[in-house]
Amino acid sequence: MGLFSKDIAMLDDLFVHTLQDIYYAEHQITKALPKMIDKASNPQLKQGFETHLRETEGQIARLERVFEMHGEKPKQVDCPAIDGIIKEANEIAGDVADKAVLDAALIAAAQAVEHYEITRYGTLIAWAKQLGRDDCAAVLAETLAEEKSTDEKLTQMAETGANARAEQVTEPA
Ligand SMILES: [Fe+2]
Ligand SMILES: [Fe+2]
Repeated sequence: MGLFSKDIAMLDDLFVHTLQDIYYAEHQITKALPKMIDKASNPQLKQGFETHLRETEGQIARLERVFEMHGEKPKQVDCPAIDGIIKEANEIAGDVADKAVLDAALIAAAQAVEHYEITRYGTLIAWAKQLGRDDCAAVLAETLAEEKSTDEKLTQMAETGANARAEQVTEPA
């Protein structure tokens, strides 16, 4: 979608475009999470990523339902924002030597992803309601609840152990 192509005329178009954006983002996240599962050392973190991978697959199915409810075919449009967040996560993960520090970095990267999703779903729910699609808003709200809960679990893992374990790592002599 070019900046000046003016394909988005109405709020309804913007709603559909943003659905396509998050539909792409969720697919990219399902590709990124297996790498994060591999890199995580803490079993609780690994398990958390695995659970969220399953949830993300369900979220893709939920989006397909919303497209259908709204009379649209599921379609992805490039989302440079999620590409950037995932690229940065891969870069930092590649630069971290110690496992405990890597876990702290992975949590931070995952939280950036969750916060992106939270802003997108929050907006989509508001627009769906504005457009009189409370049915779509209700389905999207199920996903928003999962993203928020994932974010909270990550905060808890960071604050109850992962950050402290990372801090104990000393510089190699
Ligand atoms: Fe998601
Ligand atoms: Fe998520």
